[in-house]
Amino acid sequence: MKTLGIDVGGSALKGAPVDLETGKLLAERVRIKTPKGAEPKPIAQVAAEIAQAFNWTGPIGIGFPAPIKNGVAMMAANISDKWVGVNADKLFTKVTGCACAVINDADAAGLAEMKFGAGKGQQGTVIMITLGTGIGSAIFHQGHLVPNTEFGHMEMDGMDAEHRAAAAIREIKKLSWKKYAKRLNDYLAQMEKLFWPDLFIIGGGISKDSEKFIPLLKVQTRVVPAQLFNEAGIVGAALAAPDS
Ligand code: BGC
Repeated sequence: MKTLGIDVGGSALKGAPVDLETGKLLAERVRIKTPKGAEPKPIAQVAAEIAQAFNWTGPIGIGFPAPIKNGVAMMAANISDKWVGVNADKLFTKVTGCACAVINDADAAGLAEMKFGAGKGQQGTVIMITLGTGIGSAIFHQGHLVPNTEFGHMEMDGMDAEHRAAAAIREIKKLSWKKYAKRLNDYLAQMEKLFWPDLFIIGGGISKDSEKFIPLLKVQTRVVPAQLFNEAGIVGAALAAPDS
């Protein structure tokens, strides 16, 4: 079976049809810049453009950068405040004309890695951290997800952790890999102290450069890059699509 997965990010929306049995993209992904202000209607319209690019009429799963409860966006960190309280399932369904289900973006990426990637068959506690515009998190125990964790907003050096250790901060502050790895290590060390996981999986676009920073980390827990790299968000979103 195939469904369309769309990953809504702080800098772009990316989508592609996904084979749900293999976790492979069935076509080259379409990437469209996030509209300025990241307000509800313009974002939903870009999602509709992506669906149209694939002549898509079936179900769509959408990974979204906010906690999502019963389809409703609960908080807005890197998107417009206007999302808070919006039923995202309904909005995307209305604007795309396709049945849509929305899930937190890091939860989506985590589901994809647990099913097809670095977390496959992993027992115990796995924490997926996505490093992008913000920091996303997903926690699994014996393969089961506890949804909507927001560990990117843990306090670190008196600040929101994502304002210290997101991948975007490395670029904005032009941090060397060594300096960035130190910040990331501090962040992971706090998580380690609180959850004692068996594995950390690092996702987001930065995962393709993993050899530049993962070897510099000193936490006890094993740290591996996402195997689906940045595609985990699209694949996991597709896994969350409503049944056709
Ligand atoms: C949001 C999370 C999201 C993460 C990654 C954070 O700012 O609060 O919901 O998963 O960014 O996009």
